[in-house]
Amino acid sequence: MPHENDSTINELISQMTPEEKIGQLNQFSASPDLHPDLLRQGGLGSLLNASGALTGQGFSDSGNAEISNHFQKLALESRLKIPLIFGRDVIHGFRTVFPIPLAQAASFNPELAGEAASVAAREASACGIKWTFAPMLDIARDPRWGRVAEGNGEDPYLGSQIAVATVKGFQGDDYAAPDKIIACAKHYVGYGASEGGRDYENGEISEPTLRDVYLPPFFAAVKAGVGTIMSAFIDLNGMPATADRRLLTDVLRGEWGFDGFVVSDWESVRELTYHGIAEDDAHAARLALHAGLDMDMVSGVYLNTLGESLQQGKLSAVELDEAVCRILRIKQRAGLFEQPFTDPAREARDTLRPEDRELARQFARESMVLLKNEGSLLPLQGFQRILVAGNFIHARSELFGAWTPDGRAEDVTPFDEALRQLAPKGTELWFTEAPDMALHMAHQVDAVVLVVGEHPIRSGENCNVSDLGLPPGQAEFVEAVVSLGKPVVLVVFAGRPLAITRQLAQADAVLYAWHPGSEGAAALGELLFGQASPSGRLPITMPRATGQVPIYYNSKNSGRPINRDALFRTRYQDLIPKPLLPFGYGLTYTNFEYANLKVSQETLRGSLEVSAEISNTGSRAGVEVVQLYVRDLVGSLTRPIRELKGFQRTELQSGETRRVSFTLREEDLAFTRADGTWGVESGKFHVWIAQDSQCGLQGEFRL
Ligand code: GLC
Repeated sequence: MPHENDSTINELISQMTPEEKIGQLNQFSASPDLHPDLLRQGGLGSLLNASGALTGQGFSDSGNAEISNHFQKLALESRLKIPLIFGRDVIHGFRTVFPIPLAQAASFNPELAGEAASVAAREASACGIKWTFAPMLDIARDPRWGRVAEGNGEDPYLGSQIAVATVKGFQGDDYAAPDKIIACAKHYVGYGASEGGRDYENGEISEPTLRDVYLPPFFAAVKAGVGTIMSAFIDLNGMPATADRRLLTDVLRGEWGFDGFVVSDWESVRELTYHGIAEDDAHAARLALHAGLDMDMVSGVYLNTLGESLQQGKLSAVELDEAVCRILRIKQRAGLFEQPFTDPAREARDTLRPEDRELARQFARESMVLLKNEGSLLPLQGFQRILVAGNFIHARSELFGAWTPDGRAEDVTPFDEALRQLAPKGTELWFTEAPDMALHMAHQVDAVVLVVGEHPIRSGENCNVSDLGLPPGQAEFVEAVVSLGKPVVLVVFAGRPLAITRQLAQADAVLYAWHPGSEGAAALGELLFGQASPSGRLPITMPRATGQVPIYYNSKNSGRPINRDALFRTRYQDLIPKPLLPFGYGLTYTNFEYANLKVSQETLRGSLEVSAEISNTGSRAGVEVVQLYVRDLVGSLTRPIRELKGFQRTELQSGETRRVSFTLREEDLAFTRADGTWGVESGKFHVWIAQDSQCGLQGEFRL
C-alpha cells in the first residue's frame, strides 16, 4: 500500500541487499552474548529487552538507555545505518507500576488508563524503550487463564474504550516525540478463547462471535492509529493466528486499512511446525510472511531461511519488500532515523515522579471493587484496635501483578507501613502473617482485616489455574477467624475473579483489590479508613464455582432460559444458575437510586436519548458508574441478552439528584448478521440504565 512519505523508504529499500531486508524482519532478545557483527551487518531490525515469557516474576533485568544505546551504536555501524527499534513489555507501568489492566478496566475510567499509559511511555522512553507490547486487548471469558489479568475483561465495548485511550496514551499524536512510544495491540486474535483457559491451546470462535466480541477492541486500536499488532499463539479454528492471511492481511489491512507492522509472539513463527501447519522452519517462515506477519520475534527462522527461499524462488520478493516497508515506515514515524539514541540523563528526571505516584494511587483507589459491606462496617471508624492478618501484610512487589520487569520493590512502601500511616488517630493496628497468631490476637481486637488472595506468580503467561478458589490454606484461615465472631473485612489481592463464594458469605465486608501496583497499599488504606470511597465495578463476571466457566453477562438466551417456566432448562443439578456477582457490579459507601427512565423516541431514527435520574440517598458523596445496556429482541442470528453500550462515572454529593443521559446511535446496534454482513436490523429493543448487568430501569424502542 503506497504511502504519503514512503518515497524515502522505497529509495532506501532499493539500496538494500536481500540479507539486509531480511535482517529488518528479525527481532532478538537483548543479551550480552549477542554477536556485534550481527548488528554491524544489519542482521537485526529490533531488540526485545524483556528476558522472556515469564517476565514480571523476577525473570528479567530492567531496561535502560545505556543498554539500548550500546546496541544502537553497533547497528549504526552497518552499511545503511538503519536504527534498531527497542521493544519491551510495558504493560501497566514501567518504574511507576499501575494496577493490572483488569483492575484498570474495573475503574471504568478509560481516561485514567490513557494517563497511566502516557506516564509509562515517558518512563520507558527515558530508559531506551521505543515500543511496548501493549495494550493487551484479549476478551477473556475464562478466569482460569492466567492472562485474564492483562486484559480488560469480558466486554468488547469497555475493552474498546480502554484500547483507544491506552493507544493514545502510549503514542500521543506523534510517537516521534521523545516521551512517546509505539503501542502494540495484542494478541491478535482470540487468544482468550484458548481451550480450558490454558495458554497455547487451540480455540474455536464462530465468525459472528469473532466479529462482534473479539475483534472490536483491535478495530478500535487500529482506528486510534496503533503502530503495531502482535499475532497470538492460538490455533484459531484450525489456523494458527501467526499464519492466518485472512486475519492478518484481508481483515487487518484490507478491511481496516492498518498500515503498521505485525510482529509474531515469542517464537510463534517456528511453532507453526509444532502446530503441524508447516513442514519445517523454511516452510513456516514462508507461510507467516505470506500471511502478513512482518517481524519474527526471536525464533530466528526468518533470518535463517528466507534468503534461501528467495533464491529458490519460493518467496515473493514483493511480499518481502512490503514487510520491510511497513517496518521502516514505523521506524520513520517514530523518529528513529533522526533520533536513534536516548539521553541517559532522562531516567533520573523522567521516572518515579511524585505526580506519577499520585496518579498510581488514584488509579488503584478507583479500580478496587467493594463486593460486600454488611452493616456498613467499612469504612473502619471508631475501632480502637484492629488486627491486619494474612500473607500480604508485608507486600511490596507482590502488589505489582504480572508483567512488571521494571517495577522495583524498593520503590514501594510496605503494606503494613502504608496502613499505619493512614490509620485514624487513636486506632492501633496489629499485624501478623501466622494464622495461629491471628487467632490468638483476634480475641484482643475490635475488628479484623484479613488480607488474602493470589501472589502475582499465578498471573500472566503460563500461569493458569484449574481451581478458582482461594489458594491452598486460605479458606480455612478465613473460616477460623470468622468463627471467632469479630467483625471481619476481607481484602482480596488477585489477578482474576476468584470463586470466593464461601468467603463472601462469611465476611462482613469484602474489598477486591486485584494487584493494585506501586501505590496499592496506600490506596487500600484510604478506602479501608474512609479517606476515599470505592467506585470500581467488575469488568468480568465473578463465578460461583470453577465448573460454571465460561460464564459471562452478554450470553445468548437459549431456547430454555433459566427464567422460563420449564422443568428442563439450562442449569446444573448442584448449583444455582447465576454468577456469584455480575459484570458491572460494585458497591460504594453511599447508596444510589435510579428513577424516571426516559427514552426520547419510540422509534430510533439516527439516534435517541436514554436518561434516568440518579440520586445519592446516602450520607456520603460517592461515584456511581451508570451503565447503559441494550438487548436486540429478535435478530437474523441470536442476540445477547444484554450488551453494554455506554457508561458514565458520576459523582454525586449526599442528597444530590442528577439526570444522566446517553445518546444511542443506530450504528451502536450493528452486528454480524446471518448473511455475514455488518449492520442493523429493524425490530424491538429493550434498553436499561443500570447499576450492573443484571438489574436496572428498563425501557424499550423500535428500530
Ligand atoms: C510473550 C507474550 C507476549 C509478550 C512477548 C514478549 O510470550 O505472549 O505477550 O509481549 O512474549 O515478552
